Amino acid sequence: MKALVLSGGKGTRLRPLTFTCAKQLIPVANKPILGYVLDQIAETKIKEAGIIIAPETGEYVKEYVKDGSAWKIKVTYIPQEPLGLAHAVKTAQNFLGNDPFIMCLGDNVTGQGVKKLVEKFEKEKLDSLILLKEVDDPSRFGIAQLDKKGNIIKLVEKPKVPMGNMAIIGTYLFSNKVHQAIERIKPSWRGELEITDAIQEMVNMGFNVRADVLNSWWLDTGKKDDILSANAKILDEYIKTNVQGETKNSTIEGRVQVEPTAKVLNSKIRGPCIIGKNVSVENSFIGPYTSIGDNAQVINSNLEYCVLMENVIVKNVERMEDSLIGKNAKVTKNSKCGTIKLHIGDFSEVEV
Ligand code: G1P
Repeated sequence: MKALVLSGGKGTRLRPLTFTCAKQLIPVANKPILGYVLDQIAETKIKEAGIIIAPETGEYVKEYVKDGSAWKIKVTYIPQEPLGLAHAVKTAQNFLGNDPFIMCLGDNVTGQGVKKLVEKFEKEKLDSLILLKEVDDPSRFGIAQLDKKGNIIKLVEKPKVPMGNMAIIGTYLFSNKVHQAIERIKPSWRGELEITDAIQEMVNMGFNVRADVLNSWWLDTGKKDDILSANAKILDEYIKTNVQGETKNSTIEGRVQVEPTAKVLNSKIRGPCIIGKNVSVENSFIGPYTSIGDNAQVINSNLEYCVLMENVIVKNVERMEDSLIGKNAKVTKNSKCGTIKLHIGDFSEVEV
């Protein structure tokens, strides 16, 4: 069995961060989402993964994953124009050959991992296994309608008038029969070859397709608020108290990870939080659900529920909440007269 990891797409809803980074590389708890996806694949017996990359951001993905040896997985990169998830499968056909595979969206993670799914798919000799989860906003997702026994009646991609609220989440398992189904579908109204339509076609063709309801959390990190909630969830799940850096005149409360070369001075840190390598925190309060990326500086400031990426500087900011700050950005307050001075890139958002 192989894995196909989708790490392409344009990431338009996460601009400006996605001008210089693939959306799958945005860090939560100081680690790219894609890293969690690969960790979960590494827990299975799968040893070969194809990673779909986009022309604009593929190099960033390669720089992070390299040859996959960090996960003991042999990686093949497959460039694709973003023309849909089924189009990605079609593009990967040479790599996949006739093997069954698990397809994972590189910006989706679940709390249960994928090991059990791979085992179930093989044991029950399925042609497809998909996972569903209730959502509040069904028109943003592929939606499945099931009968009382849990059999699939219908699957629709981003329905304008939803026939239910069970969303198809970004983990799919397929036998090689999916390729026949993809040959029979046409691009959707958004001009993409939809995997949802391919799975519907597999049902129509009488193949053995199964939908399970996910019992754990699911994170889909397509927008700013999704990244912040993913960060909170991952900090909650994975962070243990581990203070290795220097802490002087400071209070550390709750589960806080301070990396070895970080320095915390005259400050209070309340977990769950992670403070990256070489970070400097001075005269500040770092509140719950905050991740501070490597080499960042937080001086005379109060932060809560924030993600600061690498090399960020935050200085003299009385209170910052619910914020996602990209690499090398500076947020400072200098003037006393209440003037705002901005130097921000295209598609930035500032709330004052
Ligand atoms: C894609 C799929 C959709 C699925 C979603 C999960 O949507 O097309 O069926 O529910 O991922 O994240 P997209 O990310 O293309 O909007």
